[in-house]
Amino acid sequence: SSEELDRRITEAKKQLGKDLVILGHHYQRDDVIQYADHRGDSLKLARIGAEQREAKYIIFCGVHFMAETADTLSTPEQIVVLPDLKAGCSMADMADIEEVEEAWEVLQKEFGDTIIPVTYVNSTAAIKAFVGRHGGTTCTSSNAHAILTWAFEQKKRVLFLPDQHLGRNTAYQMGIPLEEMVVWAPISGQFEEVKGNLDDVRMILWKGHCSVHQKFTPEQIQGVRERDPEMKVIVHPECSFEVVQQADCSGSTDYIIKAIEAAPPGSRWAIGTEVNLVQRLANEHPEQHIVLLSTTMCPCLTMNRIDRPHLLWALDQILEGKPTNQIKVEPDIAHWSKVALDRMLEIK
Ligand code: 13P
Ligand code: SF4
Repeated sequence: SSEELDRRITEAKKQLGKDLVILGHHYQRDDVIQYADHRGDSLKLARIGAEQREAKYIIFCGVHFMAETADTLSTPEQIVVLPDLKAGCSMADMADIEEVEEAWEVLQKEFGDTIIPVTYVNSTAAIKAFVGRHGGTTCTSSNAHAILTWAFEQKKRVLFLPDQHLGRNTAYQMGIPLEEMVVWAPISGQFEEVKGNLDDVRMILWKGHCSVHQKFTPEQIQGVRERDPEMKVIVHPECSFEVVQQADCSGSTDYIIKAIEAAPPGSRWAIGTEVNLVQRLANEHPEQHIVLLSTTMCPCLTMNRIDRPHLLWALDQILEGKPTNQIKVEPDIAHWSKVALDRMLEIK
């Protein structure tokens, strides 16, 4: 029963005491995130994870790439556990390391030594290692602007992996016109959306996307505006360019939370991001009127795989001395991935 699950999870946490830390991403279910010692967006969790030196075990309530990041930044003795190994990220899977290596060769031929690779943290450790090896770094949706500013101080062009939308939206905000961006399509091995001269290109966007944020559309925003002209639309930058352009504002999950917290009572919001976070914000702020931008639910199915039975099972395995579902990045990949992540953490 629900009470039984709660009692056993709470008891297991108590027994493990300082040996355990549970990290939870904002997109986790309410009934799971309540047990997190720290909750945050990707950047905050990467920073907090890196600071956890006391805990022997880190249980990551989030998705696979986040647990890999936690393992990369932890000490060799620490054990990072993902309660359900099927909690992946379809966007991270869109950049395969072999395809990236192949693309890099083509880009080197086309542009010579004028490109630096940057990857969104929503990518595998192998991709992070690739950018680390090539002088690049990682970014999250919170620091993408600062990281791209840094990258353009290093080189004329950026290869941005794997989310074309975060790359395009951020670069555009920085004043780079769409004519200076192209999409690299790994399936055809060709450039797409070439609007100007290839020589002028500054952003090469990997053709990846988030299937959750892609569901928000400009039509939904128009619908909101027609129904309720007072309502403000706030979206995550993983949404398409058209959606971000039409919204009142856009930013990471942390940015969205702060915007709602700072808004006066009576504010009206349509939010374009994962539904667990939107529902939580609506529950926590009854003094405001908060709805999901889309009329159909937009859950991240893989984030939602982490449920209480999986969390309890992960805790029990640790208590029995046989931690299961450990996420361990192999040493060479971990080394270069850490180079990339450390660069990011130093920049901002
Ligand atoms: P942030 O936590 O950086 O806002 O990213 C959202 C996301 O899609 C996590 O997978
Ligand atoms: Fe990946 Fe999108 Fe889910 Fe984030 S919301 S974990 S980017 S699929």
